[in-house]
Amino acid sequence: MKVASHQLRCTGCSAAISPDAAPADFRCPVCSGLYDVVYPWSSAAFRKTSHSPGSVTSGSMIPDTNLPNASALRWLWQERRTSTMGVDQSGVWRFRDLLPILQNPENPVTLREGNTPLYDLPRSAKALGIDFLLAKHQGISNPTGSFKDTGMTAALSVAAERNFEWVACASTGNTSASMAAYAARAGLRSVVLIPEGKIAWGKLSQSMDYGAVTLQLRTDFDGCVRILNELIRRLPIYLLNSVNPYRAEGQKTLAFELVEQLEGQVPEHILVPGGNLANGAAIGKGFREMLDLGLIPRLPRISVIQAEGANPLVRSWMESAGETLVPVVAETRASAIRIGNPASFRKAVDTIRSTGGWIAQVSEQEIALAKAEIGAEGIGCEPASAATLAGLKKLVFSGRITAEERVVLILTGHTLKDPEYTIDYHRGTLLTSEELAQATPSDLALHASLSKPPQALDADTDTVLRAIDAVLQTPIHA
Ligand code: F0G
Repeated sequence: MKVASHQLRCTGCSAAISPDAAPADFRCPVCSGLYDVVYPWSSAAFRKTSHSPGSVTSGSMIPDTNLPNASALRWLWQERRTSTMGVDQSGVWRFRDLLPILQNPENPVTLREGNTPLYDLPRSAKALGIDFLLAKHQGISNPTGSFKDTGMTAALSVAAERNFEWVACASTGNTSASMAAYAARAGLRSVVLIPEGKIAWGKLSQSMDYGAVTLQLRTDFDGCVRILNELIRRLPIYLLNSVNPYRAEGQKTLAFELVEQLEGQVPEHILVPGGNLANGAAIGKGFREMLDLGLIPRLPRISVIQAEGANPLVRSWMESAGETLVPVVAETRASAIRIGNPASFRKAVDTIRSTGGWIAQVSEQEIALAKAEIGAEGIGCEPASAATLAGLKKLVFSGRITAEERVVLILTGHTLKDPEYTIDYHRGTLLTSEELAQATPSDLALHASLSKPPQALDADTDTVLRAIDAVLQTPIHA
């Protein structure tokens, strides 16, 4: 009997299949549920979901007694940081013991992703009256500037190992940028479906730079997903949207890296922005596996923040406590999360419930202000990422997060992904007067102190001195 390193288990009916049997659309033929990768050592392999009493394991996996113990793993992961091999330098494959998805684990398609910085946000913490606020910045150090690279190295390595020639995704811009880069690296061809006029310029330029076939469809993200599902039925294309369960295997390594950076501590709260709702679930999977292996003593709460105009998770929670997805027509300037019919809805609900997390929605004005505050800390991020800080304010004000609890915001994308948004904000042309009318007086004061419009001046020293003098009259941080 061949012992598989992993199986795919349906998160809907719990049926387990071998990796070779995965359908092209990565949906269970019985119940349309999405798959999770399970290993002989992960308790998920033996756990039933709340949705179905289906069979759990197929008997072809046996418990792996060779897995190193917790302290050996910690030591090994640290040791690899000093290695010069690409596979060790990658902040994903450094943890390869917990993602044995490749036949040839020493040779993944890697661009040295991961190993992203953890920053403190002292001014935002002070303003909120909390003691410990950190930002794990997935937009920095990742080669295409977003968290998507950690998942893409994993799923694209599987595509390359299985000899696919073409890969494809529908995207709000970051998945496509990442897929295009990794496909180019591996010598595969890639097709990108993006909603015309609805993705940020930085992201659009990346997929062209890396040589993808870039198709801008006159629809929204959800319309692009619909067309993509038709395409993969007709052509031998490997699907790289987040329904591909190997994406989560890469993205879950954020949990391993974060605990390492916190010297073994687990924060009380992790906040992620929610779009297609895969990332929060992937991070939750990483923490769950660490708990199963005795690497951590408990789970953090994982909370998901959505934009008010793209809030299917929030709506579903209000209408059915998360039982039934309520799709919406999505509209937000945080274009990365402009998604109305999220594929990983069920996984996200399970993660929020099982970790005791929260959900919150934030307005356009609140996202813009939070982004300016993160920028003023010298960090910067793209608008979708700033939804986390805006959501944190709501959770603190409603008493759901208390002052002494340790919070980590997941900043998902680099500020240069969407420079137009930042420029419009500082020029004062981003927010409408209706949006600003909803701001509290203290938020309006903060907008006024953070907004730094560029000034066009004559090339004359006195004029420049006068401009500087005018600024000197105001304190650096109001
Ligand atoms: N933040 C950024 C910067 C994103 O690009 C995305 C998703 C998210 C947050 C939300 O993550 O979908 O796992 O809930 N971007 C996808 C894309 C949809 O196509 O680039 P999620």
